[in-house]
Order: sequence, then structure tokens, then C-alpha cells
Amino acid sequence: MSEREKPKLRHEKKSPLEYIKGDFTSKDIVSLRQFDPKSLQQLFEVTSIMRDSEMQTFPMTPLGGHVVTLLFYEPSSRTFNSFDSAVKHLGGETITEKDPSHFSSVSKGETFEDTIRTFEAYGDLIVLRHPEVGSAELAAKVSQKPIINAGDGIGEHPTQALLDLFTIWEHTGRLENIRGLMAGDILNGRTVHSLLEGLAMFPGNVVYLLSHESLRLDRSTLQELQDKGLAVIEIDSPEDIPKDVGFWYWTRTQKERFKDNEEYEKVKNNYIITPKFMKKYGNPNMVLMHPLPRVGEIDPKVDDDPRAIYFNKQAQNGLYVRMALLALVLGRTRTV
Ligand code: NCD
Repeated sequence: MSEREKPKLRHEKKSPLEYIKGDFTSKDIVSLRQFDPKSLQQLFEVTSIMRDSEMQTFPMTPLGGHVVTLLFYEPSSRTFNSFDSAVKHLGGETITEKDPSHFSSVSKGETFEDTIRTFEAYGDLIVLRHPEVGSAELAAKVSQKPIINAGDGIGEHPTQALLDLFTIWEHTGRLENIRGLMAGDILNGRTVHSLLEGLAMFPGNVVYLLSHESLRLDRSTLQELQDKGLAVIEIDSPEDIPKDVGFWYWTRTQKERFKDNEEYEKVKNNYIITPKFMKKYGNPNMVLMHPLPRVGEIDPKVDDDPRAIYFNKQAQNGLYVRMALLALVLGRTRTV
């Protein structure tokens, strides 16, 4: 085949796990470690445009003609559907494969790598959720098309952290010198891991981690975050929650990561937020966030509290951030 006849990739891909450094085009989004403050700012600018529906700097359908594959080996409501919605809002199409272990050739014994190569042939980008830590990185090595990590086991969940950071930034107007509290399953919560990475990127941040002793962050991650300059203070009693934190980030205990159900039962719902709890330990200026789903750790009576922003702001921002990210990775913005 001559050079002229060769089918051309729409976007030439570079090596996986590259730093973003202000250029999202064709890059895999596997970890918050790839980001820097300037790239976050770029993403947030585009996210704000998506949020405000000021599409004048975009073609109306920036993903027109694009097909995005949603390959989800684990259950999902928000991540799956907000990606699906984001693609469609931008004029693209999706191929959706939920539970490929049962409903695709994976059930016949196909390897993960072969599955990735197959879907790579059908679309322009793959959004992947998988139970194994490192699966997104492996997919990125295999695929010439960009991979977006939608959660790899207890590893990372970068797009959740991006929407969490955007939500914190919207609330406080900055991402440095922030004091926050994260609670629940710090050991297994991938959203927590990615958000901590994000906060470690900025100076002066202090994070309190409230958890049962057995659900603390693994020691090497803790050390890495501290080496980057993030102040991390582990606590196990709500009495130790400082009154001046700007956000609370609550999480569920990750039942599916426990081998022993009895162990799970022992540590689940150690800290349940009720209106009384908010009154006793909260402060008027904070916001209460949760990546969702919640399974009892926030009493629905708290939902009416204006500080509870998990549905109306945080989950909503998931759509805008994913729209912005898809447009940037597929190289369809002209603003930045
Ligand atoms: C999170 C996840 O899947 O890690 N959910 C989400 O994507 N919003 C949090 C969780 O399942 O607890």
C-alpha cells in the first residue's frame, strides 16, 4: 500500500501515560499524576463553557462523526451515563458494552488485550472501567486510540477527581491553601486516591482523613503525597474534625473490595451524617460532597441542607467535565 493510500489515524497518538502539559490531544487519561495546574485550568475553562452553554467557541457538534466506546467491566450509574450523555451532547455516538465478562467474547475466554484491540478498531476513544488496578494503563499501552480510565479497581478514578476538583474550585475560587476532610473508605476508594493526587498538586493544602483504622490509606501512597507537600492528618473520631474545613468528602465503604463479608459488616457506616451530625461537627461555609452511590452513610434528610451539593452540583459537573475532556482529547476545541 502506498503512503497515500494508507488509512490515516484521525489523531496520531504518542506514548501512554504522558503528562498533559497543556495539550490533551490524543492522550490517554489514566491518572491524576499526568496533570499539572495549568492543564487543570485549561480543562476548567472549557468545562465552564460547557456548563454555561456558551458554545460559540466550539462547533455545535464537536464530536460529530466520532464514535466513543464505553467498555464497563464493573457496574456504574453516573460515570457510564454521564459519559454517554456527554458524547451525545457533543454530537457523537457511543458503542456501549456493559459487563463484557458475560455478554461479549470475554465470556469465551478472549484476553483483555484482544478485547481492547477489537474496540479500538470500531471507535475513536475507549472509556474503560475495570476491576483490576493498572488495567487502564495496560489498555493504553495496547491501544493506539485514547483510553480514559473510568475507574481501575481500587486504583484511580481520574474523571471523578476532575469533577470533584472543579466543584471545589467553583465553591472556593481556588485549589491552593484549602483545608478539607475526606471520610469513609480511604484505603479502597479510588475517587479518594485521585482527589488526593489532585490536591497534592497545589501548595498549602491540608486534608484530614477520617476512617476506621483498617481503612486508612496505604503507607506508601501516604508517604508519596506528603513528599509532594500535601499535609495529611489521619483521624478516627468526628470529635477531631476541625471547624474551619472548606469541604467534606464522604464515601461509602467499598463492599466489593472485601474478601470477607463479616469484615465489611464490622466497618461499614462508621460515620453516618445526619442533620445533628452536621450541626455538631460542621461549619456554615463548608460544602458536603460524595461521589455517590451512598449506601446509608448520609441520611437523606441532609439532602435539603444547602451545603449538600452531591446531586445538584457535583454529579451535574460530571457531565460538563466529561464533555470538556472528550472535546479536548479528541482535539475538537479551538479555544486553548
Ligand atoms: C465511585 C466509583 O465507582 O469509584 N462512583 C462513581 O464513579 N461516582 C464511588 C463508589 O462506587 O463508591
